[in-house]
Amino acid sequence: MSLKKIKIDLVIHDLKVPLAVIESGITLLLQKPEKYGLLTAKQEKVLNRTLRNTRVIQMLVNDLLELGRSREGIVNLTNFRLSNLFEGTLIELFDLVDSDTSERIKTCAGLTELKETLAKSDLVLLVDEGLWSQEFCLDETKIKQILRNLLNNALKFRKSFVEITVDKKDDHLFLSVKDDGEGIPSVYHQKIFESYFYLEAKNECTVRGSGLGLAGVMVLVEDLGGRLFIESEEGKGAKFSVKVPLAKKCRHGLRPTNHSP
Ligand SMILES: Nc1ncnc2c1ncn2[C@@H]1O[C@H](COP(=O)(O)OP(=O)(O)OP(=O)(O)O)[C@@H](O)[C@H]1O
Ligand SMILES: [Mg+2]
Repeated sequence: MSLKKIKIDLVIHDLKVPLAVIESGITLLLQKPEKYGLLTAKQEKVLNRTLRNTRVIQMLVNDLLELGRSREGIVNLTNFRLSNLFEGTLIELFDLVDSDTSERIKTCAGLTELKETLAKSDLVLLVDEGLWSQEFCLDETKIKQILRNLLNNALKFRKSFVEITVDKKDDHLFLSVKDDGEGIPSVYHQKIFESYFYLEAKNECTVRGSGLGLAGVMVLVEDLGGRLFIESEEGKGAKFSVKVPLAKKCRHGLRPTNHSP
């Protein structure tokens, strides 16, 4: 690893502690009025916004650290249920954009209730009940990061709906995220995976990103030994599909391994 890369990784790493202190400080002010005093509605609103944005930076820092680990060949294989992976990802995502939906997801009793809750936010989840409760052996953090970034884009660019499909075939997990937004002309189908590349959004309300999400998704999918596919035409929405091999054996708990795709 080059000295420059080590320095960047150290700075990213050193952001973790101060961010955790800021996050817990704001959380205490919001959750312990008996100790820190009652807040006015306006103060609460400002603190909630600050907390959401602090969590956005925390997620970014964690994502960057995970990308660094991934490039160094570190894969943490654990057993997890698909339901936990999806619920966790959706809660993380909606926590930042729509905390009411996030709270509703937390209280869902099962798949049917989750599907109904998501449908209210124009999100269609297509997954078999059996698969949903099945255990998989994969790097959960990486899969979450992949899914969160694809969903983030789809929710940002959709017109009216986003569809998530999950399937398992021949020892591979298949995930796809489809939207009905403005789509991506085929000349840009490779470019969008380059760092800092983005197209000017046709919809003025779309918040411009930094053009890093898909580059990160590509790195993670490659490092997991998987493939990433895009199907999209201008004006006809976009579908991103991921195919990752499932590990055959998985011990319980975290197990760092050097993995070559
Ligand atoms: N679902 C989609 N529909 C239409 N365009 C998309 C979609 N997903 C990605 N793009 C295009 O690809 C570009 C790159 O996406 P990427 O996720 O890398 O970056 P971003 O979303 O702009 O920023 P961020 O770094 O916050 O993710 C986007 O700016 C957009 O132009
Ligand atoms: Mg993005």
